[in-house]
Amino acid sequence: MTEAYKIIDHVYDTVVVGAGGSGLRATMGSAEAGLKTACITKVFPTRSHTVAAQGGIAASLGNNSPDHWSWHMYDTVKGSDWLGDQDAIEYMVREAPAAVYELEHAGVPFSRNDNGTIYQRPFGGHMQNMGEGPPVQRTCAAADRTGHAMLHALYQQSLKYDSDFFIEYFAIDLIMEDGVCRGVIALCMEDGSIHRFRSHAVVLATGGSGRCYFSATSAHTCTGDGGAMVLRAGLPLQDMEFVQFHPTGIYGAGVLITEGARGEGGYLTNSEGERFMERYAPSAKDLASRDVVSRSMAAEIREGRGVGKENDHIYLHLDHIDEKVLAERLPGITETGKIFAGVDLTRQPLPVVPTVHYNMGGIPCNYHGQVVTIKDGNPDTVVPGLYAVGEAACVSVHGANRLGSNSLIDLVVFGRATGHHLRDTIKPGSPHKALPKDAADLALSRLDHFRNAKGGSPTAQIRMDMQKTMQKHAAVFRDTQLLQEGTALMQQVNKRMEDVHVTDRSLIWNTDLIETLELDNLLSQAVCTIESANARKESRGAHMHEDYPERDDANFMKHTVSWFEGWGGKGGKVTLDYRPVHEYTLSDEVEYIKPKKRVY
Ligand code: FUM
Repeated sequence: MTEAYKIIDHVYDTVVVGAGGSGLRATMGSAEAGLKTACITKVFPTRSHTVAAQGGIAASLGNNSPDHWSWHMYDTVKGSDWLGDQDAIEYMVREAPAAVYELEHAGVPFSRNDNGTIYQRPFGGHMQNMGEGPPVQRTCAAADRTGHAMLHALYQQSLKYDSDFFIEYFAIDLIMEDGVCRGVIALCMEDGSIHRFRSHAVVLATGGSGRCYFSATSAHTCTGDGGAMVLRAGLPLQDMEFVQFHPTGIYGAGVLITEGARGEGGYLTNSEGERFMERYAPSAKDLASRDVVSRSMAAEIREGRGVGKENDHIYLHLDHIDEKVLAERLPGITETGKIFAGVDLTRQPLPVVPTVHYNMGGIPCNYHGQVVTIKDGNPDTVVPGLYAVGEAACVSVHGANRLGSNSLIDLVVFGRATGHHLRDTIKPGSPHKALPKDAADLALSRLDHFRNAKGGSPTAQIRMDMQKTMQKHAAVFRDTQLLQEGTALMQQVNKRMEDVHVTDRSLIWNTDLIETLELDNLLSQAVCTIESANARKESRGAHMHEDYPERDDANFMKHTVSWFEGWGGKGGKVTLDYRPVHEYTLSDEVEYIKPKKRVY
């Protein structure tokens, strides 16, 4: 039985949930089109996780070396291990230069070349001449604080276009009616009030679910809230088994050291002082794609050539780079190295280890940002009123492995595309139907349930068990036994939510309650991740299955689609299906890039 809550009603044309790069770009686009736009965010916009993106944003400007959008497309398709949808990839790489210039005009303080153009650095897997090489300088950088700079510019622009921000509001659940999204319910964490937002469109820009794992570069806020809302609405997620490990998280702290460090000449060594990437990727070496570098590091550690007392990490060297270059191009990580590793990187190597960084999977959608599902055999059925952008979404441009600096461009290109679609399909101020009577029931019954949860398991304990299980059973290397055991264990961990203990009933600044709602969100995605991984009997991109070490295009060149039943430890059943990869391009200016063996 749900307690009677006082509900405050709002009516908008568009509601965006999340204020990172993609959420802000969608908010800005919607408001610019004259649509009454709200952005709900659980943290202050400039504290969203995009702030942590360091190295830059990919676009074929060709400022520092020759480049072309078709080369960017080739690299992205190859990086995705041919799981990316090529129509969406073509859209992204062709729109990328305009999106970067738009950011420049919005006020992003990009680093500059001597001739005043935007400075671009090399990043892993980005090459010239349709993958032939040499490496291309494609990643546009604002020193090593690119995401931070973008957030500030995009927030200012969103305010300029008169959007309303609901800051430190936690979105609990979507309002769905007959398969149509009609709005969202949120809790104002400051005063405990409940808010019912009615809108023609909801855009989920809630980021990834990296905190399913123990060691992640993702912020504590990366709890996949949008993905979980979608699952509770009876809709599926896509390609959840593809979790990116960034090669250089600081050992022990998990804090990101940008790939830009290797872009500026940094390199990795093992306990023998060997630059081992020369063996694994003779051409791209330390600038191979992330899955390749992370696997190579993990293999070195496994074979006893890790560094440190426990031989369990790797060294990243920047000590040979001119101090002036470090101060100008990598000031942030110079500071991070000191604070989190106690290392002066102008003199000493940094201890690093592959660390969970990004979800290639997420809420399935098309390149307009519209959420899609499989219905009556149609794998591209649009869910009216619902959009997803950024890491929360799976467009899919990253397929089985994302290239570094392709996430920031994904945020702005698809945030902008979503803004365009909203502009073209919603008439500002058009009337709303009355909401169904039960519009708030799911959200309020969950809130009520967890406020009264007085079981024997503290939230933090269940979260730790989930994170340790995922870290061990769904890591860089996976095999049948690990995955099968992990699947059973994750079902048990999820079930323990029935016994969760929340310390008090307050709705005002109740951290324990919010963390419990977040944990409930994480659990459904952790279970989908490991069960999707268990079902994929091949190795592709970030999913390295040791019992099936080869890519199997005949049986597995398809997107995994996963539904999850229940919440709060009840249910837990995952249903899997598959969608075909889009084996076509958007225009006839470029041909479909046929699969081949992926070597760097
Ligand atoms: O390494 C980095 O700077 C991270 C960038 C990214 O994930 O795209």
